[in-house]
Amino acid sequence: MKRKILVIGSGGREHAICKKLLESPKVETVFCAKGNAGMLFDGIEIVDISEDNHDELIVFSKKMAIDWVLVGPEVPLMNGIVDDFKQAGIKIFGPSKAAAMIEGSKEFAKKIMVKYDISTANYQGFSDYAEALEYVKKNKLPIVIKEDGLAAGKGVTIVYTLEEAQTVLKAILGEASSRVVIEEFLIGKEFSLLSFVNETGFYPMVAAKDHKAIFDGDKGLNTGGMGAYSPVDYVTKEVEETVIQDIIQPTIEGMKKEGIPFEGILYTGLILTNEGPKVIEYNARFGDPETQVLLERLDSDFCLVIESLLSQEVPKIIWKKEGTSLGVVVSAKGYPEVYEKGIEIPDFGAEHEVKIIYSGVSQNNDTLVSNGGRVFLVAVTEKSRKIAHKKIYEWLENQDLKKFYYRKDIGNN
Ligand code: AMP
Ligand code: GLY
Repeated sequence: MKRKILVIGSGGREHAICKKLLESPKVETVFCAKGNAGMLFDGIEIVDISEDNHDELIVFSKKMAIDWVLVGPEVPLMNGIVDDFKQAGIKIFGPSKAAAMIEGSKEFAKKIMVKYDISTANYQGFSDYAEALEYVKKNKLPIVIKEDGLAAGKGVTIVYTLEEAQTVLKAILGEASSRVVIEEFLIGKEFSLLSFVNETGFYPMVAAKDHKAIFDGDKGLNTGGMGAYSPVDYVTKEVEETVIQDIIQPTIEGMKKEGIPFEGILYTGLILTNEGPKVIEYNARFGDPETQVLLERLDSDFCLVIESLLSQEVPKIIWKKEGTSLGVVVSAKGYPEVYEKGIEIPDFGAEHEVKIIYSGVSQNNDTLVSNGGRVFLVAVTEKSRKIAHKKIYEWLENQDLKKFYYRKDIGNN
């Protein structure tokens, strides 16, 4: 019997996941809740149920005889969607509420790293403003201040002066019961290594690089991610081995020893320092926009990979050996601060030599319009990063995107 799958989420990551699942001959229908209107171009069924409404999602899954569920974003994971679906007897791939803490609390993640001897920046956690400021004074600037809790990529600030530190700490610690982690600023190149995880072990993907800042040259505010590529040349076999053995393995084993085994996708964000790779964050899910390029690298049937993981078997995963996949995010002007919504998205036609993955879009009568900061991503796979970069920007420059913004340097470094 062909599968009916439900994907939770509504962004570009989920569009890419659904599209990849639909490539499998085993799949009949992919539903996405809440999905977005851009997914309709690819035959994805969008379902108007919010990702917080676990009860209604369970009722829907039972009614439609969904075979299994895959969760994209962190918020439902933190809210225990995996626990709720399992309790209802529906197969779902992702971490439990307890295990999702590895992303939900920076301090919990840091404690795991310290306890299991995993390389990361030196740090301390605080809830008291005066103590936090004292720590900043005693340490070297710049220093990194991280809000403890989910902050959609906006909870991290690199401060260069004491005044900046005061402003940031006041803003965060002014709220009742809030905490911060203050950590050493690491110098080096950033990358991420995601892994599929089940009871049989963990299965690393190919390294990816995200470009988080809004402007070229990594300047300006942090965003959810303005573009990504994979593989990453500075992540050599040796670096990858170090990350796998000295970071991912002890993280997975550490979580088991803590009595909160992690299953799902473990995203490890790293900086390659002079002393080797160090962790800057864990996420309990696929990255966005990394997934849009990572799934381009996957040569295996994605549906069967997830099914093996769900059955606690060793999955057969084959990655493309040649070429580079690169994606550039097109956003509304002004993002990640104030931006307009409802901007009309050009009709790119049915045939184009790039892949278009939609995120912040909705339908207004018959027109696709923007309704978020990151609107869509354009992806290609080419022989080299340089060719991919050239092809993507040639295509973008030929479109009428005057009302939008995109970085011009994705894949340059
Ligand atoms: P995060 O949300 O933890 O990924 O942090 C957002 C961004 O802040 C990262 O992508 C890095 O560019 C930067 N960052 C976080 N932690 C550090 C650190 N300890 N040293 C240098 N940069 C960092
Ligand atoms: N692109 C970074 C993230 O998904 O957290």
